[in-house]
Amino acid sequence: MVGVAVWAVRQAAPKELVGDIVEHYMGKPRIRDLLASREPVPGLRVSGWVRTRRDGKGVSFLEINDGSSLANLQVVVLAESGLTDKIKEATTGAAVTVGGDLEPSQGQGQNWELVAKDLRVLGEAGGDYPLQKKRHSDEYLREIAHLRPRTNKYGAIARIRAEMAWAVHDFFRARDFLFVQTPIITGSDCEGAGAVFRVTTLPDGQVGKVEDDFFGRWAGLTVSGQLEAELMALAMGRVYAFGPTFRAENSNTARHSAEFWMIEPEAVFFDLNDNMTLAEDIVKFLVGYALDKCAKDLELFDRFVEKGLLARLEALATGPYFRLSYFEAVERLLASKENFEFKPYQGCDLASEHERYLCQSLGGPVIVHDYPKSIKPFYMRVSDDGQTVAAMDMLVPKVGELIGGSQREERLDVLESRLEELGLPKAAYWWYLDTRRWGTAPHAGFGLGFERFLMLLTGVNNIRDVQPFPRTPKNLEF
Ligand code: 4AD
Ligand code: MG
Repeated sequence: MVGVAVWAVRQAAPKELVGDIVEHYMGKPRIRDLLASREPVPGLRVSGWVRTRRDGKGVSFLEINDGSSLANLQVVVLAESGLTDKIKEATTGAAVTVGGDLEPSQGQGQNWELVAKDLRVLGEAGGDYPLQKKRHSDEYLREIAHLRPRTNKYGAIARIRAEMAWAVHDFFRARDFLFVQTPIITGSDCEGAGAVFRVTTLPDGQVGKVEDDFFGRWAGLTVSGQLEAELMALAMGRVYAFGPTFRAENSNTARHSAEFWMIEPEAVFFDLNDNMTLAEDIVKFLVGYALDKCAKDLELFDRFVEKGLLARLEALATGPYFRLSYFEAVERLLASKENFEFKPYQGCDLASEHERYLCQSLGGPVIVHDYPKSIKPFYMRVSDDGQTVAAMDMLVPKVGELIGGSQREERLDVLESRLEELGLPKAAYWWYLDTRRWGTAPHAGFGLGFERFLMLLTGVNNIRDVQPFPRTPKNLEF
């Protein structure tokens, strides 16, 4: 019987959804695939969690979800099935497995339903189950992050997040960028900003000498894979890193997380312009990919999180994207009638209210380039004016800074004098300097915050809600 069912699902569902999957997973179909079926399928077994149960005269309806899609599968339990006692245990939140036939639905709202012949409750969920059918606040759901992926919104975020990770790899693979894995534990602070988590095996409370520590020297969690990505790029030509990065900034904002993922391409023979074009391309590509592959999930956000989201995303996928030099950007701020809390001036760091104004007044993403060198890290290429560096930040509506990058300083003497200027220890960067000593070449790259991108994509306005288990100041549960 199972063999027949497997065959039937494979015939019935779109090939790209099912293919060999059903067979490989021993005839355990996923609800998404069943809902896409083209034909009735007899003799199936489906498992998932009960979202709701409605009891009518002589019939009960279960909505079950297995995480494969936003849509639930409706299970129809008729009185004549002899399952009336068992159905009582199938309360909201319970894990169930149901055997039966996939048939055209008699009711509205779905094409298919499963007519149950057999039902088992694998894991009960009593009346104290926290996710009863009503809307919960984001704040409350953060406190139960171990359960929130079982809600529509957080399940959708998990699927979108996974799909976008694939998209990142697709994008770079098609452009001949090599995926490199940069280290998580590092001995240097790439951004030179000092917001590094220390890694140590010294016993609790022991201040200890660094020589006695595991590495025999100071160690920390990486804030960026850039420096190592550069080393790899200067051999492989085009690379990208995509992994977790860590920042101990004590900024308790809706856009900062202590642990987040960064997408970091690095390409030799790319200049600042190429870098800006790559940045624009990847954002357009990822948004287009999401509109194509995550349409159902994104509709949820369009309805409940940000009205008009889909239209905003369509525009993001096509453009325009604006480019302004830092000088022009500040002139724009100075000319505006806006009453900024931080008064802008030529040479200032851009505050989030400034970033917001630039995007809003131009009506789309803005790449600001050629910043004063005084507000940027040591590795950015110094321009001929001696005052600015070939830096670029992409600012986007709602989120602010999405991307930060630059053309890198490839000239040994200039790089060394920058390190000195900033009081950074040259000796610690000997390997980085070596790549400028031998076979140096112009190159550029950037870092794109994955979570910030997901906020842009879903309209979710707190970074804690696009990470399954966020790490923020004073918050390390789960
Ligand atoms: O601008 P940042 O600090 O740039 C770098 O670290 C470079 N070394 C990257 C490179 O060129 N390879 O960070 C890059 C991006 C930001 O634009 C932002 O999107 C994200 O990383 N980001 C954060 N996201 C969440 N939480 C934080 N605390 C973040 N800090 C930066
Ligand atoms: Mg930055």
